[in-house]
Amino acid sequence: MEVEIVEKNDLEGAMIVEGMTEKIFPEFVRWHRNSVLNYLRLGGKVFVARVSGEVVGFAFFRKIHEKLWELTLIGVLEEYRGMGIGGRLLEEAMKVIGGEIYLHVQTSNLPAIRLYEKFGFVKDKLIRGFYSDGSDAYLMVRRDFISNSFEP
Ligand SMILES: CC(C)(COP(=O)(O)OP(=O)(O)OC[C@H]1O[C@@H](n2cnc3c(N)ncnc32)[C@H](O)[C@@H]1OP(=O)(O)O)[C@@H](O)C(=O)NCCC(=O)NCCS
Repeated sequence: MEVEIVEKNDLEGAMIVEGMTEKIFPEFVRWHRNSVLNYLRLGGKVFVARVSGEVVGFAFFRKIHEKLWELTLIGVLEEYRGMGIGGRLLEEAMKVIGGEIYLHVQTSNLPAIRLYEKFGFVKDKLIRGFYSDGSDAYLMVRRDFISNSFEP
């Protein structure tokens, strides 16, 4: 499996990601290719995982500032889950992205919460009614312990 970064202005890459969001989040999230391209133009980073050339997973990271990123969305096609692909996407992304990362996750989404905990995220806050369907979220944070410890 390889993890690649989608380059700015890569229309083909943006179309693949659009198709992935449609498959993985059919009920509530769909990213149009133009939204993906805009996200990249604004400094966001999009990673895709390929198995035998086919894109099977993706992760979006929005840049808040140099040392703070939001993990906006991560997903792996159902038939490829539980094989370490979500983990590899996080690992590879964290080699490129420095600083702290935060995210929101539905409190009922145990596979995602476990994945984040495995990679150093901790629950910071419970936010009631965060999602449009009224469900609750955890705000989770992965602190950049190394750079924090050198701050004056
Ligand atoms: C969350 C998601 C991205 C995980 O991807 P994945 O490729 O299946 O994850 P991995 O195989 O890399 O698993 C990494 C760790 O996550 C946890 N995990 C993954 N699936 C799990 C499950 N079904 N139950 C419990 N823990 C799970 C485990 O800790 C696992 O580590 P381990 O194998 O050493 O136990 C995937 O389940 C998914 O796409 N879900 C639907 C979309 C979604 O909810 N995205 C998150 C919100 S944006």
